[in-house]
Amino acid sequence: MSARALPQELIRAKRDGEALSPEAIRELVGGISDGSLSDAQVGALAMVIYLNGMSSAETVALTEAVRDSGEVLAWTDLELPGPVLDKHSTGGVGDLVSLVLGPWVAACGGFVPMVSGRGLGHTGGTLDKLESIPGYDIAPSRERFRHLVCEAGVAIVGQTAELAPADRRLYAIRDVTATVESLPLIVSSILGKKLACGLDALVMDVKTGSGAFMPTHEASFELASTIAEVASRAGTPITALLTDMSQPLAPCAGNAVEVREAIALLTCEKRDGRLLEVTRALAAELLLAGGLADSRDAALVLLDDRLASGAAAERFARMVAGLGGPADLLERHDRYLPQAPIVHPVHAERSGRVTQMDTRAVGLAIVALGGGRRAPHDAIDPAVGLTGIAALGEAVDGERPLAWVHARSEADAKHAAAQLKAAIEVNDVTAGDVRLPTLIQDVIRREAP
Ligand code: URA
Repeated sequence: MSARALPQELIRAKRDGEALSPEAIRELVGGISDGSLSDAQVGALAMVIYLNGMSSAETVALTEAVRDSGEVLAWTDLELPGPVLDKHSTGGVGDLVSLVLGPWVAACGGFVPMVSGRGLGHTGGTLDKLESIPGYDIAPSRERFRHLVCEAGVAIVGQTAELAPADRRLYAIRDVTATVESLPLIVSSILGKKLACGLDALVMDVKTGSGAFMPTHEASFELASTIAEVASRAGTPITALLTDMSQPLAPCAGNAVEVREAIALLTCEKRDGRLLEVTRALAAELLLAGGLADSRDAALVLLDDRLASGAAAERFARMVAGLGGPADLLERHDRYLPQAPIVHPVHAERSGRVTQMDTRAVGLAIVALGGGRRAPHDAIDPAVGLTGIAALGEAVDGERPLAWVHARSEADAKHAAAQLKAAIEVNDVTAGDVRLPTLIQDVIRREAP
């Protein structure tokens, strides 16, 4: 099929089972960004891709076309003394990895220009969390963003209109045409945006379990391996980790409460837990891929040293201050981070151990409290959320609650408590009876070809 064909002819070819050439895909994606394809044509294209799938070569071409549909960040002129690295997650509950990983990797010599998103559905968003810090500007000028990446080694900001504009339009149309759940469309959407950031290496955290975007382990694994293959064929070395989301990753979930948790980890007030383990594993992969360590063990030693020395916390503080937040956030976070007026423990109906969680429902309880959005333009309440969430296998009783709910009103707290009790299963079993999920279930490493 010629790259000059009418869009409807290209859509027809795909509808009839033909593979699209890279030129045809580039032409179509160009038409999505410049508006020459109508909404109807974009919707029809998304649907034929949804129904017929795409070959690996087509998915690579689609990803590259989305990446190149707008500005592609370049860092060579800054002559940074280390690799440009980033992490992306498919989203979860209590997943504040980015807040800790970005400054941590920067403290080890990496440069992290992290373009993050807002909460989506039941999952939290890094930008929403950062906006609970008074003054933090998620949309700095390009010069300020580049300066901060250079000076602090890390800047976590929002997507600009110039970055992968084709994805913005395509995603909005997918959202209303029942075409979100398509592997090639998901992969090109995620990677198109990330690869536009001019990275030397990427690490992907693909979640699996009841709070994950993909419904089954098999689907999550397929997503992880497709992302790894496509990123590497598009020229970016990548490691994809498949990690557990059958319970919240941190013992808290919300916005300001997650920033507090990040500070506790960065300042070594807290020294263990699932969140730290996953963050450490992802960061180690980035150091390896970026050539900042020769082995995984060496990467872990470097990471542990930079956390214990306070260097990672110092990078976080520099980033926050550089983007307009308080310079003394680490020392005086209670003064700056909002707190909900109502804080209540939620007790299970019976004593026993937590045997199972509907993590998606836990995330939706936070949305109902106001910590996430029901509609795209809803305002977020940064103060609400959950803390002290009991883990799988943990004993709960009249003293140890399932969690503490932080709410704006008594009515909201009551509603969230009911949602939480329905989402967390408690049974009269021994610790040995509860099968704990493996935290890191797979590691897929791919070099660029
Ligand atoms: N996140 C994205 O950015 N795009 C998708 O298609 C799905 C999740």
